[in-house]
Amino acid sequence: MEQTIEQISYKELLALDHLPQHIAIIMDGNGRWAKTQGKHRIFGHKNGVKAVREASEGCAEIGVKHLTLYAFSTENWNRPQMEVSALMELLIMTIGKEVKTLQKNNIKLNAIGHISLLPDSCQKALKKAINETSNNTGLTLTLALSYSSRVEITDMVRTIAQKVKNGQLEPSEITPDIIGNHLYTHNIPDPELLIRTSGEMRISNFLLWQIAYAELCFIEKYWPDFTKNDLFKAIYDFQNTERRFGMTSEQITN
Ligand code: FPP
Repeated sequence: MEQTIEQISYKELLALDHLPQHIAIIMDGNGRWAKTQGKHRIFGHKNGVKAVREASEGCAEIGVKHLTLYAFSTENWNRPQMEVSALMELLIMTIGKEVKTLQKNNIKLNAIGHISLLPDSCQKALKKAINETSNNTGLTLTLALSYSSRVEITDMVRTIAQKVKNGQLEPSEITPDIIGNHLYTHNIPDPELLIRTSGEMRISNFLLWQIAYAELCFIEKYWPDFTKNDLFKAIYDFQNTERRFGMTSEQITN
């Protein structure tokens, strides 16, 4: 009889010398998960925090260097006010509560997006945790907050255009590397693996430039049900896919 995902321990199957350097996750399905329980969407977000822990501890445990979580998009500001406030509250509480665990797991917290649009209390909690974990050397956990990839690209174009205007840069000097160096993620390697839960197959304005060569992994489960084993399975599948970067199979293997 075939084994289900839950019966296989994918961690033991991983080649630890061939891990993706950077994993990005679109955490989707909190609202639908809550609905299956007959509860309000916010109950889904609260349970989503457990899965955030699973993903970050899982990455830290095996030695993945970067994990980026899509925690709040620019578009999410358009949700009902009560849900936005609850998400901000949850963020403040979680960050405050989890700093100890971040320290214990040698995780460095980071954030990208228009952080200045977050409520002051949220910015304060975030800055404090980023500061306190800044000397950690294991996993860098980046939260994308008030984030939009198109806005990020627009910001990058404005900065580069200003440099050209000031005479600091020639148009002919603009290369893909220069563009990458002006994105919010300039100090993070591009994701090699992008995971989205809830069965939706969309990118939703997340790291559009950076995922050019990422393997995409779509998981049927809603985010609150996501476990370390799901993470390890996604990495296992990544390790067993041939990444050709536009070349032929023979070129890769020779
Ligand atoms: C998507 O589900 C989830 C979000 C927009 C928010 C993610 C937030 C958390 C997991 C909790 C706090 C996070 C951190 C980093 C502490 P959805 O609401 O779009 O679900 P739906 O598609 O079923 O409606």
